[in-house]
Amino acid sequence: MPKLAVIPGDGIGKEVIPAAVEVLRAVIPGLETVQADAGWDCFRRSGTSVPQETLDMIQECGAGLFGAVSSPSGTVKGYQSAILVMRQVLDLYANIRPVRSLPVISPREGVDMIIVRENTEGLYSRIERLEGDRAEAKRVITRKASTRIAARAVALAAQLGRRKLTIVHKANVLPVSDGLFRDCVLDVARTAVEAGQDLEVDELLVDVAALKMIAEPERFDVVVTTNLFGDILSDAASYWGGGLGTAPSLNWGETCAVAEPVHGSAPDIAGQGTANPIASVLSGAMLARYVWKNAKAADRIEKAVEAVLQQEDYSSQLACSTGGITKRLLEVL
Ligand code: NAI
Ligand code: MG
Repeated sequence: MPKLAVIPGDGIGKEVIPAAVEVLRAVIPGLETVQADAGWDCFRRSGTSVPQETLDMIQECGAGLFGAVSSPSGTVKGYQSAILVMRQVLDLYANIRPVRSLPVISPREGVDMIIVRENTEGLYSRIERLEGDRAEAKRVITRKASTRIAARAVALAAQLGRRKLTIVHKANVLPVSDGLFRDCVLDVARTAVEAGQDLEVDELLVDVAALKMIAEPERFDVVVTTNLFGDILSDAASYWGGGLGTAPSLNWGETCAVAEPVHGSAPDIAGQGTANPIASVLSGAMLARYVWKNAKAADRIEKAVEAVLQQEDYSSQLACSTGGITKRLLEVL
């Protein structure tokens, strides 16, 4: 039986994660869950944003479902964003962010892309220094990380029967670092095609990619890119899927994975019971599909989300009842 570390975190994480667990339990009856702590509240209570027990539990279960963290905007001594710690310590090197048109709530039909974002390096290597009036941030690109993210994107395309891979980079301005990233991805893709995979590969500079994600989002299938580009493009693209209230993601390593809604802790609506649980529910479905290899459970959840959206007027992601949507989901599953 699959095991899950449940980590609500801060703000609306405490509301949407229990809803997602209820839905997961309904499709995977024997699912074992353990509660784990992480986030800003956890830091204030215990002095650490991710206790070692939480990391151990995720590793032991092989899967975690995380809500969100509230991060202070200034520097707080000893504090590190919980999700960044989990990604780095657990080496969750691939961030999978699907964007798909949903009934009623999506402003456009026919969008169905998966953004595969490198999750451990790039500008998020967090190597910064200040010298007088000059600040520097190092953007690290390695052959190892670029090759393994490419392998994950190509394998995902094969698993899902997707036939187009778009590499997004900025190799015209950064020929050394982004040139390395692009070449690594091309190598992996070429090998897969030579081995018989049906895969068309193209590449776009990130600025053109941003325009095309707005103007022709249907052209994208699987997209593979570096950390910061993937972060920004996937938030923007999530608009086509219905916005942050419905955008799921999966941080996926070799030995474990942590699913999380793309949104944050939404302090402006926390505690009101109005947070949309769909992003977390769909994140749970990603665990079922990719980690527990239970496509049937994932399909059931995704179909229930579509049915509920079709039946009710959830056209505003901000005007909903967490409990109401969860109840409807459990009814139509
Ligand atoms: P946010 O995603 O928390 O909220 C942005 C806007 O979208 C807010 O108006 C919020 O009410 C709305 N919203 C978000 N999720 C929603 C949902 N499920 N249902 C209905 N409305 C929803 O981003 P924001 O405001 O920039 O950040 C708030 C806090 O969250 C900050 O402390 C930030 O550091 C943290 N954050 C954490 C992330 C994570 O844990 N991975 C990601 C992004 C932000
Ligand atoms: Mg983001």
